[in-house]
Amino acid sequence: MTDLVQLTSDNGIAIITINNPPVNALSPGVPEGISEALDQIAQNADVKATVLIGGGRTFVAGADIKEFGKMTSGKSRGPGLLPLLLKIEDSAKPVIVAVHGSAFGGGMELAMAGHYRVALATAQFGQPEVKLGLIPGAAGTQRLPRLAGVAKAVEMCMSGNPVNTDEALKLGIVDRIIEGDLLCGAIAFAREVAGKPAPKTRERNEKLGNPAENALIFSTAREIAAKKQRGLLAPARAIDAVEAATKMAFEEGCKVEQKLFIECLFSEQSKSLIHVFFSEREAAKIPDIPKQTNTIPIHSAAVVGAGTMGGGIAMVLANAGIPVLVKEADQAALDRGLATIRSNYANSVKRGRFPQQVAEERLKRITPTLAYDDFSRVDLVIEAVFEGMALKKEVFQELDRACKPGAILASNTSTLSIDEIASSTSRPEAVIGTHFFSPANVMRLLEIVRGKASSKEVVATCMQLSKTLGKVGVLVGNCRGFVGNRVFGPYRREAQFLIEEGASVEAVDQALSDFGMAMGPLATGDLAGLDVGWRIRKEYRHLEVPGIRQPFVEDRLCELGRYGQKTGAGWYKYDDQRRATPDPAVGKHIRKWVEEAGIVQRQILAAEITDRCLYALVNEGARILEEGFALRASDIDIIYINGYGFPAHRGGPMWYADTVGLKRVYDRICEFHRQQGELWQPAPLLKQLAELGKTFAEFGREQGATA
Ligand code: NAI
Repeated sequence: MTDLVQLTSDNGIAIITINNPPVNALSPGVPEGISEALDQIAQNADVKATVLIGGGRTFVAGADIKEFGKMTSGKSRGPGLLPLLLKIEDSAKPVIVAVHGSAFGGGMELAMAGHYRVALATAQFGQPEVKLGLIPGAAGTQRLPRLAGVAKAVEMCMSGNPVNTDEALKLGIVDRIIEGDLLCGAIAFAREVAGKPAPKTRERNEKLGNPAENALIFSTAREIAAKKQRGLLAPARAIDAVEAATKMAFEEGCKVEQKLFIECLFSEQSKSLIHVFFSEREAAKIPDIPKQTNTIPIHSAAVVGAGTMGGGIAMVLANAGIPVLVKEADQAALDRGLATIRSNYANSVKRGRFPQQVAEERLKRITPTLAYDDFSRVDLVIEAVFEGMALKKEVFQELDRACKPGAILASNTSTLSIDEIASSTSRPEAVIGTHFFSPANVMRLLEIVRGKASSKEVVATCMQLSKTLGKVGVLVGNCRGFVGNRVFGPYRREAQFLIEEGASVEAVDQALSDFGMAMGPLATGDLAGLDVGWRIRKEYRHLEVPGIRQPFVEDRLCELGRYGQKTGAGWYKYDDQRRATPDPAVGKHIRKWVEEAGIVQRQILAAEITDRCLYALVNEGARILEEGFALRASDIDIIYINGYGFPAHRGGPMWYADTVGLKRVYDRICEFHRQQGELWQPAPLLKQLAELGKTFAEFGREQGATA
């Protein structure tokens, strides 16, 4: 037997323990080990029943995700889990699967092949494959409806969301909840069922429903998938596979599932989602900051400014259990900020996200103040006052005086130089950017901006803090707009140029939304407030290079007071529920302004819209990569997916460019360069990779990335 699986016994009950830390993934060697153990058990007349359990902190949390990549590249194509699961189910002695931690993916399929399942109350059960663009591939879609019923099986396989033990018991996935020691409880259960006929999941057809009810379940599921999982292949295939379970014999259903699984496995969507999975983990690694780097314990924090961002950031800290002071400039602003926080919590309670008591505990961690008096006690301050260098410097001087040595002084600035802000303190090594995205308590992205003096300890602490706060932290360099907003600039610029050249507002947004973006670029502008960019542009006008084309329509809309959703009108008009409708007046204005500017409008196809917006993004991304402001292309992908609504199933903008082929992207950019001029100068790195026939991912690996 392999080291990964152990066979022991306890008075006639065999115990198979899987030991493949940290999560007992079904890596090569694990299925073989279980199979060998079953052979030995079959030959041992003393054994009456078997307990299958996971060693360490969990049962089996899933397949080894690296194996999927090997399967598509032809490096591994074993028989899969199916034969082992049949062997378990056909075992003459009952197999009791004992679950703690999680039984996910392949782990769930393994558990369902047992004759019985017992579990600790804290365990979780799920088929999360869809989150990687896959469906269960070892009869999960065939056994789950037989245990939990068709509706629940469809829901679990298409959403990927797990159920806890309580629900699993009600559904029939679990046979008993074990209190106290899991193994002892499982052995006791095994003694009760030993010698009795054991139910085989694949032969249990009583929950497979009837055709009329099932038809409704499947059509409703397909409607939900079309709306909530727009453009995704795996949820649709998961529904197809469960449907097969209701329409054919188990063996036939398994064949259908296999076919659909392979279709998903080889799809670009799944490869992209697996890329995202590994890239997110890769983003946590900083080449010059080893894992063992000291971090500063964050027991308490403070936020300066209780506006849109400050309030959200205070909630994020409080939600993570960190007490936080919130300082404002005056009582009225402080009251407003706290009122918003209170109403956000009240809304969450109303929507059933957490109980009132949790809201109260969180609120209690937030202490409003108008003074810096208690700042000497906190380990971290996040500044979120108005965007303006003079004000930020003034605040940081105050923080420098008020905070203890060793405290981290972070700014949430979205455009200003961290180095310049740091220069106003006597401790630039303690200063760093923590760039949250709006709404801060919802968006997962946290750009951590490393100043030239930021200490490794401070960087490592903020990277770790991002995890504590439930965010994805990505380290970026200190350039204007950092990574996210810098790349977003050319993307939105092209959206506006397209409007000037003849595309309608709705056509631009539709093309990008069809591509999979959560929102079109113009609707996004309306949501964020068009005046924000307008103010920044006015401040930086002196830096504009004469002769280089600048979009002007958005500024004109602002001059008309059309700031977006907040004023009821921007690119669209809005009702009091903030629902958008196209505004013919905008079209009229634009045509007039464009004519005055001497631009001749033409018909523009959707393909040009997506190519221009997305390739502008990719070109700027390549430049950032070359300049070293992002550590790797995949970091830009993670930023775009978590902060800007880029579809995860396309892997992020840089990965998407790789899938199109960098040569093709480069050629198209050259074409735009010829048509549109200087702004489309191809990034040297893109040119180089295109000529070498390489991808950004290969470039990343050459630079030491492992994703
Ligand atoms: P906001 O205008 O909603 O809030 C700023 C708050 O700071 C106001 O309540 C103001 O009273 C307060 N304030 C001003 N001076 C102060 C002082 N000396 N002491 C304490 N409080 C003071 O602004 P918002 O949108 O929250 O932006 C804050 C920062 O976050 C800016 O640097 C902005 O660039 C950045 N940011 C904004 C995002 C957004 O979507 N709104 C996204 C990411 C970053």
